[in-house]
Amino acid sequence: MLGRAPGVRTILPAGDLGWGKPDMRARAQPRGLYGEGVPNDLVIVANRLPVDRVELDDGEPGWRRSPGGLVTAIEPVMRANQGVWIGWPGGTEKGLEPFEDDGMSLVPMSMSDEEISGHYEGFSNGTLWPLYHDLVAKPEFHREWWDAYVGVNKRFAERAAELASEGATVWVHDYQMQLVPQMLRELRPDLRVGFYLHIPFPPAELFQQLPWRRQILEGLLGADLVGFQLPGAAQNFVRLVRQRVGHKTHRDLVYLPDGRTVRAKAFPISIDAAGFEALAQTPEVADRAAEIRAALGSPRKVFLGIDRLDYTKGIVARLRAFSELIRDGHLDVEDAVFVQVAVPSREQVEQYRILRDDIDRLVGRINGDLGRIGRPAISYLHSSYPREEMAALYRMADIMVVTPYRDGMNLVAKEYVACRFEDDGALVLSEFAGAAEELRQAWLVNPYDINGMKAALLEAFRAEDRDLTKRMKAMRKTIRQHDVAAWADSFMTDLGDIRSSHGKPVRPARRS
Ligand code: G6P
Repeated sequence: MLGRAPGVRTILPAGDLGWGKPDMRARAQPRGLYGEGVPNDLVIVANRLPVDRVELDDGEPGWRRSPGGLVTAIEPVMRANQGVWIGWPGGTEKGLEPFEDDGMSLVPMSMSDEEISGHYEGFSNGTLWPLYHDLVAKPEFHREWWDAYVGVNKRFAERAAELASEGATVWVHDYQMQLVPQMLRELRPDLRVGFYLHIPFPPAELFQQLPWRRQILEGLLGADLVGFQLPGAAQNFVRLVRQRVGHKTHRDLVYLPDGRTVRAKAFPISIDAAGFEALAQTPEVADRAAEIRAALGSPRKVFLGIDRLDYTKGIVARLRAFSELIRDGHLDVEDAVFVQVAVPSREQVEQYRILRDDIDRLVGRINGDLGRIGRPAISYLHSSYPREEMAALYRMADIMVVTPYRDGMNLVAKEYVACRFEDDGALVLSEFAGAAEELRQAWLVNPYDINGMKAALLEAFRAEDRDLTKRMKAMRKTIRQHDVAAWADSFMTDLGDIRSSHGKPVRPARRS
């Protein structure tokens, strides 16, 4: 159990990670009343719950694992600790009660249609997401979206304040919840509050465009510890706090006029490496991997891309690079196939719909131009899969291609490495994914440079076994040492270390 002091278990319980269970009807048990006699020493606040409310094939309501890196990372941490997770289960269903799922206590927060379009699709994914990802798409600024964002953050903060026990730790996650730390501190000054941003934090030049820049910075400063994926992001934040809010800063510390110190630091997130490796080694996954390869027509080599269908992921450019290698005669469809899995995401947001159409058209054109009967150049799947299937895909693929234009970390790259227990396989990785700072032995590419990408794909395709083994061994060592338990442990340790008062006289904040 986590209290004020750190104490996340570093060893995850083997075999109790409930990988990929689409129908959770039978397991979800009502949890009873929260805040009444049940001490909640650790409260997780995230926009999403780890499970989504869905309609099952038989028309009955059920639960399915939510998409994305945040859930992948937090789920094993929650399982290894007693805590309660507050989040939105998707959809607009009201009145869902708190429930237990596989050892996790989940508190669903409903959202209205207006909140979904203003807070989730609007401010979170139409404003902040593109702004924080290097303006890969154009962010839109709408005052109604901002109002909805404030309203939803307030409701989440109030719920967390109700549920947290005296002196508890509350860990707030990601860009959809940046105002929660400050709101929570106002409601419950006794709490220790951590915040972690799973996506990049932009340079000051971009962040400055945001009409509500000061409110966001102040929202985050309600936390004792603000965590980022990379050191550059933490530096961007501290610099902005100094420039825009006017607080005194020193290295990674911000000194607030009320005596509090806030620390901003990088904690590169990771995966349950041992769990993934164990899964990849099971006979079921081995059989499935062989089956997939056979279904693909047993090509000599298989390239693989697995992404949420998002414009930051660089799917179009990567497929184009691959197709040009075939067109130029460097690869042949008898020798190589590209399997691209695109997990449906944010389908109500216009930019995502346009992207889906673009990819559909491109895949159709490439296969029409370059495929032969029974041998498409690209095998394209628009679907999400349970982890067993993901592990089978990782196991059967010779070359994993991860080429985002900008990505906080990218856990798919790490999952691939974790699954290559025979120290084989190649990783082609964008320099602009956070993971590139750790996985230096990958073929690193600039996703904007199509010729550079073509060269890297070809090199990875032609690489000798010895070279592959050397690279994969080194990457696997990194992933084993820096797994998700180590990540959570170091965040919690630092959160526990924050001093309550800095005792320095500081001038009041200047408005900008
Ligand atoms: C990324 C974000 C998460 C988000 C996930 C899925 O990993 O960092 O906060 O939950 O994408 O996106 P969605 O919009 O479906 O929650």
